[in-house]
Amino acid sequence: MKAAVYRSYGPPEVLKVEDVEQPSIQDGDDDRVLIKVHSASVNPFDYYYRKGFLPVRPSNGLFKPKQQILGIDVAGTVEAIGKNVSKFKIGDHIFGSCLGSHAEYVCTRENKISLMPRNLTFNEAAAVPCAALTAVQALRDAAQIKKGQKVLINGASGGIGHFAVQLARLYEAEVTAVCSTSNLVWVKELGAHHVIDYTKEDFTKNGIRYDVILDASAARTFFSCKRSLTGTGFYMTENPTKPGFQLIQVLLGSLMGDKKMKGAGLTNTGGENLELIRELLEAGKIKPVIEKTYPLSQIAAAHRHVENGHTKGKVVVEIAT
Ligand SMILES: NC(=O)c1ccc[n+]([C@@H]2O[C@H](COP(=O)([O-])OP(=O)(O)OC[C@H]3O[C@@H](n4cnc5c(N)ncnc54)[C@H](OP(=O)(O)O)[C@@H]3O)[C@@H](O)[C@H]2O)c1
Repeated sequence: MKAAVYRSYGPPEVLKVEDVEQPSIQDGDDDRVLIKVHSASVNPFDYYYRKGFLPVRPSNGLFKPKQQILGIDVAGTVEAIGKNVSKFKIGDHIFGSCLGSHAEYVCTRENKISLMPRNLTFNEAAAVPCAALTAVQALRDAAQIKKGQKVLINGASGGIGHFAVQLARLYEAEVTAVCSTSNLVWVKELGAHHVIDYTKEDFTKNGIRYDVILDASAARTFFSCKRSLTGTGFYMTENPTKPGFQLIQVLLGSLMGDKKMKGAGLTNTGGENLELIRELLEAGKIKPVIEKTYPLSQIAAAHRHVENGHTKGKVVVEIAT
């Protein structure tokens, strides 16, 4: 099968589309599903691994990557199933989380995928899992968002941000979205009550206080946002790895028992959370926005696009043509 492979850490050019051995369901893989990948998205996670960012090296190889095919989101068709798989049958259209999805075939556990929402294309479904799951877990679980709360989403036009705006609105919060000038209109259309253009206004200096600040861009620090929080409010950062300072402030905050700051990462892929997202998508309550779709042969360009840090919604790689 064809896959985008990287055999050394480095720039997007280290990614090469090559013929590699196709995965299969082996004895003992009884809860696994073999998926013929139609589409996969590119997440910042992919370029962190490709670049060999320091925190990934202990698990993925100090000098060269052990896991050489990237991709964590998938939409495709069930090709084969292990003998204990009960939720899916061959031919089902599915979406979900799956390491190594930038390839024509991939295997994952059945609890990491769900049936694809009937109203979405493969490309749309592939744009959803990591970003939407992270947004749900940040707002519902970490923030325990409540009706009427003032919620600010920084980085509202990105992968996580555009789902967070829609979800916060669904949870009946008063939503302020922060993004750059060209994204103001569509972010408002997604449901934000208020929009702030970060190129023209610093939200930490306008005197307004929020119950929740979700910094999906990690462009701000906890310390700069602290004065914009209500007495019981807190700041959540989505990126405790960039540029290392985020990690330090989360660690410092927890050591000092500062309840005003939380890391809000993706801890639970698949399962009930993915099922909830599937239902919201199918009911038309949330929707993915795709800025651009690339063929697998242009995987390096897709990485460059995401690494630029200004993705509008999601970038998708179309693998089956
Ligand atoms: N911890 C976890 O488990 C976890 C899981 C998923 C993602 N993440 C992390 O969360 C972060 C966001 O992920 P993503 O997929 O949403 O990234 P993304 O799609 O690249 O979005 C980033 C957004 O940040 C905005 N931005 C850039 N500079 C900004 C600034 N100075 N002020 C405000 N916004 C700014 C951009 O909007 P404009 O184009 O409008 O500038 C862009 O839309 C990434 O760092 C990712 O690694 C963490």
